[in-house]
Amino acid sequence: MSIIKVTGNDMLPVKEAVIELKEYFSSKSADCGRPLTFSIRTYGCQLNESDSEKLYGMFDLMGLSEAPEGETADIVMLNTCAVRENAEDRLFGNLGVFKAGKKENRDMIIIVCGCMMKVKENVDRIKKSFPYVDLVFDPQQIHLFPVLLRDSLRKKKQLVNISSEDYIADDSIIPVTRQRKFRALVPIMYGCNNFCTYCIVPYTRGRERSRDMGSVIEELKALGQQGYKEVMLLGQNVNSYRSEDGSTFPELLKASSEVDGIERIRFMSSHPKDISDEVIDIMASHKNIETHLHLPVQCGSDRLLKKMNRPYTIEKYLGIVERFRKAVPEGSLSTDIIVGFPGETEEDFEGTLDVVRKAAFDFAFTFQYSVRPGTKAASMPDQVPSDVVTERFQRLLSLQNDLTYKSNLAKVGKTEEVLIEGISSTADHIFSGRTMSNHLINFTIPEGISFEGDLEGRLANVKFTSARPYSIDGELEGFL
Ligand code: SAH
Ligand code: SF4
Ligand code: F3S
Repeated sequence: MSIIKVTGNDMLPVKEAVIELKEYFSSKSADCGRPLTFSIRTYGCQLNESDSEKLYGMFDLMGLSEAPEGETADIVMLNTCAVRENAEDRLFGNLGVFKAGKKENRDMIIIVCGCMMKVKENVDRIKKSFPYVDLVFDPQQIHLFPVLLRDSLRKKKQLVNISSEDYIADDSIIPVTRQRKFRALVPIMYGCNNFCTYCIVPYTRGRERSRDMGSVIEELKALGQQGYKEVMLLGQNVNSYRSEDGSTFPELLKASSEVDGIERIRFMSSHPKDISDEVIDIMASHKNIETHLHLPVQCGSDRLLKKMNRPYTIEKYLGIVERFRKAVPEGSLSTDIIVGFPGETEEDFEGTLDVVRKAAFDFAFTFQYSVRPGTKAASMPDQVPSDVVTERFQRLLSLQNDLTYKSNLAKVGKTEEVLIEGISSTADHIFSGRTMSNHLINFTIPEGISFEGDLEGRLANVKFTSARPYSIDGELEGFL
């Protein structure tokens, strides 16, 4: 596999394809007497969401508009995730449903992209059992989408295009239509080199490649000018960011915090093997960097961590936790945990419960181990029986629920700045948003405080009145 850097010039054929498609869809729309629509369903992580924002950007340039919710679009696109098995079941279920849609509207276009398309078995299954899917491509080729769509329409037969290259197509040369007003997703690197033995991402996203720091900072400046309050710097392991000119993540984080107008900088994910004291110090000393650290531990047993190819010990992990808690006392810590990795014993699992207690995670994403064919762990002996996994998973969940509730409870009585994400219940006029520490807040606006228009993306002071298991209730004190 090689890495190819895509330049602005390489995008000229893409622009030509966009112009051709715009004409094509406009004449189709005239024929059927209504505007043509598209829809994108996005699965998986924020990197996939960010990819979808690029697809939205390209559809917009083709003159298409998004189908209203609940209506079947003329072009249906599924941006898939392969990280766990249930995602696959969902995709094939959905494709079955679209068969009926295609019968009704023979011009309907069905496209499947995303990480699942890097797994050969999935592509073979689409070729064999879902011939009515028009186009299949992989995440490395997002920037080429208009060319692939045009070619598939010309071909009038299923087009499957999976690359064997890793492209570095900097975000600055790809159109983007952002889907949220309150948070802009900004990938700083693509791919992953870590090969944790359970994980498929290094196979679907290819080798690590970092964007130039200058390009990221330019993007942030533009976002600040457009009024975005929050940016989220994205990568599978942001701490291993290293641009061609040698810039590191701490340097990028500091430079990001100096950009005018950006009030909140989030980043995700951090790998315990790479996060440095410097990053924690920068978090502590820069007011516009979030006080939330997402630091996946995966499990609480050194023996299993080795088998997972996660090169750190629980002692080291807890050392990072201690430094973070000391440096950012008002902050929050979240994690990812897998239950039932091959060979996990009751003792290993007790270790996981122990690390959860000691770290006192504010939030956690907990997963049951899912076999990913092609990964090292898939062929490891001693796969844990599913009833054992389910039982352990429930014990973990109940411990973490207690901790999350306690973390929410500790906020009650305080007033903090909340970035408003939208309305959470129209009937009761309840709005939702998040604190700097990523706590989810649902709040009301008392009579007497007037506001106009859409509140998404505005900052407000909210007083926290009571805690729930997964959120905190509050009342707005005033807009900022
Ligand atoms: N790069 C990120 C994680 C990306 S995947 C990181 O390392 O922090 C998000 C999470 O999915 C992982 O942290 C892991 O907990 C979970 N995951 C990955 N592969 C899995 C598998 N095969 N089964 C269950 N959970 C898995
Ligand atoms: Fe997967 Fe590990 Fe890479 Fe995260 S760091 S994406 S868990 S291989
Ligand atoms: Fe899924 Fe791909 Fe993200 S496998 S978690 S969408 S990188």
